[in-house]
Amino acid sequence: MNESDNQLIEAATAARVRSLAPFSNFMVGAALQTKAGKVFTGCNVESASYGLTVCAERVAIWKALSEGERDFTNLVIVADTETLTPPCGTCRQIIWEFAKHATIVLANLHGQKEEVLIEDLLPRAFDARFLKEASRS
Ligand code: THU
Repeated sequence: MNESDNQLIEAATAARVRSLAPFSNFMVGAALQTKAGKVFTGCNVESASYGLTVCAERVAIWKALSEGERDFTNLVIVADTETLTPPCGTCRQIIWEFAKHATIVLANLHGQKEEVLIEDLLPRAFDARFLKEASRS
């Protein structure tokens, strides 16, 4: 973990404050860095139709992808929990598909942080390879 991780933690912490989480009150921020060093942040956005809620990680990923970015090196996730908050199952799938090579850092507001790898969070992942492999008769 280096200085640029700390800057990303700061960016994710700032994004977290913009969280729209009136139902859970659980605020999450994310910061996604591209290979070229550009940073896209995200916060969770909750819907009154709860299932439509989008996590901070996916907001950051959708923002970056929709701006044409494809190569990501780092993803930071910040929440206010003692036990560092990992990405949910849906986000793990999306990280696997779109930010596979990003180093993931989980952090909280008390300076605790931990690096994790998507292959450890989502072993034996499903992706487009299986669609290509499927026999079509
Ligand atoms: N949430 C995230 O934004 N990221 C995570 O990694 C875990 C969960 C959000 C979704 C929802 O708005 C709230 O946290 C409670 O689940």
